[in-house]
Amino acid sequence: MGDHDAKPILVPSSIPEQRPPSSPSADDAFPTVFVPASTECEALPLLVEGIIKQKAAIEQAFHRSGAVLFRGFQVLTPSDFNDVLEALGYDNFAYRGRGNAQKMPVVGRVVTANELPLHFPIGFHNEMSYQSINPSKVAFYCNVEPPVDAGGATPIVQGHVVYERLQKEMPEFLKMIETKGLMYHRFLSNDPSGTRIDSWQAVFKACTKEDAEEMAKASDSHIEWREDDTARSCLGPRSGVKCDVKRGQRKVWFNSIGATYDSMHIISPGQDGISFGDGSPLSDDSMLACIHIMQQEQTAFKWRKGDVLFFDNLAVLHAREPSKPPRRILAALCAN
Ligand code: FE2
Repeated sequence: MGDHDAKPILVPSSIPEQRPPSSPSADDAFPTVFVPASTECEALPLLVEGIIKQKAAIEQAFHRSGAVLFRGFQVLTPSDFNDVLEALGYDNFAYRGRGNAQKMPVVGRVVTANELPLHFPIGFHNEMSYQSINPSKVAFYCNVEPPVDAGGATPIVQGHVVYERLQKEMPEFLKMIETKGLMYHRFLSNDPSGTRIDSWQAVFKACTKEDAEEMAKASDSHIEWREDDTARSCLGPRSGVKCDVKRGQRKVWFNSIGATYDSMHIISPGQDGISFGDGSPLSDDSMLACIHIMQQEQTAFKWRKGDVLFFDNLAVLHAREPSKPPRRILAALCAN
């Protein structure tokens, strides 16, 4: 029996960018921060031990704020991050995303956060909210922190806070989202060789239109064909608002409106689109108003090497600020 059996290894702390609790009785500051109790607790084996021994306290913090940051521990390599994930004990969720948001394997269950060049922003989204099945949690790890004053934060915002703001400020728009849902669109080129990754042949691994339609149906989407055999895939309708049953049945903003807006206007104009679930258009103005609210309610803390952040993908939306190299943020998705 060592000293650590009795003393905590992780202790609660704070960072300047933390947001105050959204409801003091029920919530914690966002994100909840844990740091080493002493210098010797910084070592990775102690962090792993602490996570296992203090699981109940970590889970409670996670439940109360929806996001937890471990800071100040010696999580030096992607493999160290993998050890942290294993200690947390959540099941892995295999990435099945699309489009710009590709993730490459690194080690164990660790993947790159996003392959998109660093100078592009990625707007707010819940991970894979355009799909019918999405990960339960998302974890990020800072392997190389961005240069000072170069941006590169991973802003996060609580979905229930966004929902409450929209209820007050854009009730009619919110009602439309809640009743109609959202449809996510993507342009598909025609390339019989299947070499172009944006072709319907490559996206649906199909040689014929009939096969592509079958594959689309299996992924809960459909295809609209154009005369030149290019097409548009339509995913949905998907809910734009969900209910967080674990946190008092509160409603949460749950969609990819922010990320789709950036994709439409900055990253790949002409590729992505979004509409209400019945196909009626979503105006740029209303999308921008939502984005503005998310930005007002966000926290965008500066990454430090070794930071591990994990959050509930239902309760929290995330984004990426543009940055200059070097910056290496790695990720993992969890199924439960
Ligand atoms: Fe993401």
